[in-house]
Amino acid sequence: MDTNNTTNPPVNNPLGVQPTIPIGTAGTPPVSQPSGVSSPPASSSTPAPAPQKGKSMLWVIILLIFSFICGLGVVAWYFQTQLQQLMSPSEVTTLPAEVPKEIIVGTDATFHLMEYVASDGALLGYDIDFGEKIGEELGVKVTFKNIPWDDLFTALENKEIDMIISSVTITEERKQQYDFSTEYLNAGQVVITQRTNASISSSAATLQGKRIGVQEGTTNEQKALTLTSENLVIRYPDFVQATQALVDGDVDAILADLPGGKGIVTQNPTLKIVSDPLTNEYYGIVFRKNDPNLGRINETISILKTKGVLTDLKQKWFD
Ligand code: ARG
Repeated sequence: MDTNNTTNPPVNNPLGVQPTIPIGTAGTPPVSQPSGVSSPPASSSTPAPAPQKGKSMLWVIILLIFSFICGLGVVAWYFQTQLQQLMSPSEVTTLPAEVPKEIIVGTDATFHLMEYVASDGALLGYDIDFGEKIGEELGVKVTFKNIPWDDLFTALENKEIDMIISSVTITEERKQQYDFSTEYLNAGQVVITQRTNASISSSAATLQGKRIGVQEGTTNEQKALTLTSENLVIRYPDFVQATQALVDGDVDAILADLPGGKGIVTQNPTLKIVSDPLTNEYYGIVFRKNDPNLGRINETISILKTKGVLTDLKQKWFD
């Protein structure tokens, strides 16, 4: 018995050797030996390798758990970055760096109800509201400048203004020189006469040989030239003067786009619209060629169409 006792290793060093597991040296504090796992009972006669095995197993398990947690962390981080990339690109791509703080819009405010000067000097009309809605949607200040029709396109070219909103018909000819937004209003031309005039009827043929007043440089002038002889097309610098000429009897009729035409007869009760639209025309916003903001404005117009804002404006001004 005694001999047995003497050959047994000391209780605190069951293997009789200095600790061999180098884990503690790799920066991890040595794991305190859990009682009952690594210390065999003092009476044990053989230095069993089991405790060594148990320890290794424990470390393997700890290592596995640790790797699992790290793995989870990496996966979570990956998905979070992917998600962030998915959420943010819209802001980045739809608002390029060159977004202006203010947009200067040119308009010839002589076309009643589309764009006109109120008695207090303010600019009013469908186009003014339309421009302001675009600004609101973009979060950009929109300022209108009243410029005579004749100078409007030069002002755009000289960069005095950023764009034109002035009941401008989109035509192939103009598209050679300028860029247009998508169309925002249908505006065929109508014939306006004095209420008492019985010789001009809804048929455009009745305009033959009649004096037609138009605003110079417009699609109305082009159309008038097809309806009467060249010398009977009387050109005015703006719609206010063309309208006045009709009221005064200096011309027999004027040609105007339907939206502005409605405004003209509302303003002048002695006048009437006698025809259905003679042409198929659409208004667009005019830009210098290759203006980088065109895409954003088109996006905004389609948003305003979807939201019903354009329908509301039509009702407000023309119904
Ligand atoms: N729609 C016509 C055109 O583009 C007439 C526009 C006149 N606009 C105005 N604001 N005066 O030629």
